Amino acid sequence: MAYNLLKGKKGIIFGALNEQSIAWKVAQRCHEEGAEIVLTNSPLALRMGELNKLAEECNAPVIPADVTSNEDVTNLITKSMEYFGGGVDFVLHSIGMSVNVRKNIPYTENNYDFTHKGLDISALSFHRVLQTAMKLDAINEWGSVVALTYIAAQRVFPDYNDMADNKAYLESIARNFGYQYGVKKHVRINTVSQSPTRTTAGNGVKGFDGFVNYAEKMSPLGNADANQCADYCVSLFSDLTKMVTMQNLFHDGGFSFTGVTAAVIEQMEK
Ligand SMILES: NC(=O)c1ccc[n+]([C@@H]2O[C@H](COP(=O)([O-])OP(=O)(O)OC[C@H]3O[C@@H](n4cnc5c(N)ncnc54)[C@H](O)[C@@H]3O)[C@@H](O)[C@H]2O)c1
Repeated sequence: MAYNLLKGKKGIIFGALNEQSIAWKVAQRCHEEGAEIVLTNSPLALRMGELNKLAEECNAPVIPADVTSNEDVTNLITKSMEYFGGGVDFVLHSIGMSVNVRKNIPYTENNYDFTHKGLDISALSFHRVLQTAMKLDAINEWGSVVALTYIAAQRVFPDYNDMADNKAYLESIARNFGYQYGVKKHVRINTVSQSPTRTTAGNGVKGFDGFVNYAEKMSPLGNADANQCADYCVSLFSDLTKMVTMQNLFHDGGFSFTGVTAAVIEQMEK
């Protein structure tokens, strides 16, 4: 059901790779709610060609940008402003990648070149996008920026590897840039800490099925899926959440505040 929550709003959505991607669902929901969007992903991801389907569905241009490149991010934001004829009202950062995870290198043996690369893509890119947007004055008054994160930033999930450190850094940027952009232009910046979700990035984590099943049993409401995450992001882009900023917002069915559940105890007693 659509409520026209984003009617007249314009936004940039990073990170839709395929139909499983959380950003894909967010783009669809934003479009349904009346927003105009620009879609972006790395040139490598665009070569897979799937994004064109979404672009057609949402009537959105696709502008490539590798988020580790200042030049690409500047070009993306400049072109988006040209397309919209002005600034944007919301931005979704839905990007994560760890080479250590991909190569199955344990946390205690991380290769630092890979660590740098993962940090650059998964966390510093958020700062780069915000810094570039501020320089170009690309986000309108009371705009809203959301980045996706995971609870491994606060608690240990051993196989999440260096992505845990990347997420801690990402959440810190949301707080610190949130302060600066709030004072300067009433722009709000938050992270959404999502349940484990079956996507390309999610499936890359060792033992991911176990992760998903455990979280399902440990959440009073069960795991939140990608469509529900999209609904939550839409609410954060809307005018109904104008005074929420610098927060890490758990969207996880109650997982983050649950010590144990009857379902887990039952399993342990077997
Ligand atoms: N899937 C989960 O279980 C889960 C849980 C909590 C948070 N998250 C977070 O959600 C976000 C989206 O991930 P997803 O699960 O939808 O997976 P996904 O694989 O669909 O999305 C990750 C995206 O990052 C993009 N990306 C990677 N390198 C890039 C670069 N250099 N420049 C631009 N884009 C680049 C990929 O192309 C892809 O579109 C990530 O931040 C992830 O950490 C995922």
